Amino acid sequence: MCGIIGYCGARAAKPILLDGLKRLEYRGYDSAGLAVAEGNQLNLIRAVGKVSDLEKKGIARPLPGHCGIAHTRWATHGRPSEENAHPHCDCTRKVSIVHNGIIENYLDLKEELLARKHVFSSETDSEVIAHLIEEYFEADLETALLKTVQRLEGTFGIAAIHADCDRQVVIVRRGSPIIIGIGEGEYFAASDANALLPYTQKIISLNDDEMAVLHPSGYHIKNLNNEFLQKEIEIREGRDEQADKKGFEHFMLKEIFEQPQAIENAFRGRLIESEGVSKLGGLEPVMERLKNVKKLVIVSCGTSYYAGLCGRYIFESLSELHVEVEVASEFRYRKLKMDGDTAVLALSQSGETADTIAAIREAKRKGALILGVVNVVGSGIAQITDAGVYNHAGPEFGVASTKIYTSQLVVLTLMALLIGRYQGLSFTEGSAVIQAVKKLPRQVKRILTDIEHIKKIAQEYARYEDFLFIGRQHNFPTAMEGALKLKEISYIHAEGYPAGEMKHGPISLIDENFPTVAIVSQDSTFDKMLSNIQEIKARNGRVLAVASEDDERIAGLCDDVIRVPETLPLLQPVLNIVPLQLFAYFIARFKGCDIDKPRNLAKSVTVE
Ligand code: AGP
Repeated sequence: MCGIIGYCGARAAKPILLDGLKRLEYRGYDSAGLAVAEGNQLNLIRAVGKVSDLEKKGIARPLPGHCGIAHTRWATHGRPSEENAHPHCDCTRKVSIVHNGIIENYLDLKEELLARKHVFSSETDSEVIAHLIEEYFEADLETALLKTVQRLEGTFGIAAIHADCDRQVVIVRRGSPIIIGIGEGEYFAASDANALLPYTQKIISLNDDEMAVLHPSGYHIKNLNNEFLQKEIEIREGRDEQADKKGFEHFMLKEIFEQPQAIENAFRGRLIESEGVSKLGGLEPVMERLKNVKKLVIVSCGTSYYAGLCGRYIFESLSELHVEVEVASEFRYRKLKMDGDTAVLALSQSGETADTIAAIREAKRKGALILGVVNVVGSGIAQITDAGVYNHAGPEFGVASTKIYTSQLVVLTLMALLIGRYQGLSFTEGSAVIQAVKKLPRQVKRILTDIEHIKKIAQEYARYEDFLFIGRQHNFPTAMEGALKLKEISYIHAEGYPAGEMKHGPISLIDENFPTVAIVSQDSTFDKMLSNIQEIKARNGRVLAVASEDDERIAGLCDDVIRVPETLPLLQPVLNIVPLQLFAYFIARFKGCDIDKPRNLAKSVTVE
């Protein structure tokens, strides 16, 4: 949830740390800070708000030094404030640390340290780490941190420096991602590889309970038993896209418009038209086991959870699997009956969502086959799963997930097609799916040409403070996702509901101030959706419909209509969500919200 960056080398640390923070800011942006060690001195700058606020504050402070750490925060313990911003120091201001995660036993540790006259300056759990290092520091930081982590319960990615070891950055990982970057005579630590793209593609991912020591002449890695480890250097391909919105006002709009390309990336090289089947190299190692799977459980969070709900309809349309979809944070506490013919599929853009990681660790313990669909190569989930499929959607920086959602739906379709064609799905049915998938990029492009019409409708709806989103079957998850898009970037109350549930409660909310967005496809539920719309109109509710281009009945029943091309029912959510993404975007823009960094949110939720 927070962003960590560390540097050690020949160059001045401060500009590199600030640049790295900007690339990590999508992970959390309540407050930020940096600390640089030089000549037995430790210099610190912290600021509430965004990295740009920290930068303004730091202009007057030269902060000499070639070794430092920095952090951008999403608050867990302690409100966003300068005192609670990282880095945190010990009593002597010789030690400075940044931390991502949650120290579950921090209150006990704080009590012990207070009893030993330590003086705390923050409300955070993280500050106990700095004071413990102070307690254990004798001659070197590495040993002090090793002893410190023995006392910690919970999750952490920590980077630490010490004024008396002013050319060293020591990092340690348990549960929160942290990697090291290998430059030319300079070394980096970061929460994710995107932050290091301008400097190096040589990356080493630390595993849990591993520690790295960076110094100008090199680095070494150990486990927490103080044993040296040799780890492979990965080359992380990737283009430095952080600063590049390519002329779009926000990353979110850029990523909405990247969807035709992202969808194409999801199926490129993965369709075998001659056999009416998909080809997913990442699943080949477990294909024999996968053929015998009877039950599939999809676990994920947020937008990825709604993609999972769509996945259930997709798998049930194309395969004979029994499919369950679970919110990851709930799944892990259930009494689970897992066996060899159960597969658990984690959906995650970041591949670092703590709840989803915890869920698949639990399923792995119970013997299930663990699969993943993630967008970040080498991410935590990618490392845990038995097999998986990458989205190849390119980095998604907008906190509100857009291109990943449609990419996930396409990848799920390819997975269901692959499995289904080993079961009852015919060549003809498989071929129809393939042809429909290939058309999607063009169809999304067509919807995007309607942007001015959607913008105009959004402007008319921007004044409302409450929304209901409804749909049936494949469009029920679309209603949930459409509501999430609106609420998370415009802060307007928006609820998604299965349309059939209207009469069981939500209809009591309907009046002229409570509009409804109805997702109406010309499928088996069409007539029932028209009935829902008439029930709403009978109570003066305003209705915006997302409907098929050739639907001739809808216009007479609704106040506003946004039209989308038709495809197979199982793929229709890929198209239906696009207008709702733009609808939410323009309402948030009219309200002047911070669309790419909505309040209280972060892009990667790495705490439970
Ligand atoms: C969606 O717009 C949000 N950013 C959030 O709900 C997100 O989908 C959720 O945190 C899951 O993230 P993941 O896909 O990286 O696991």
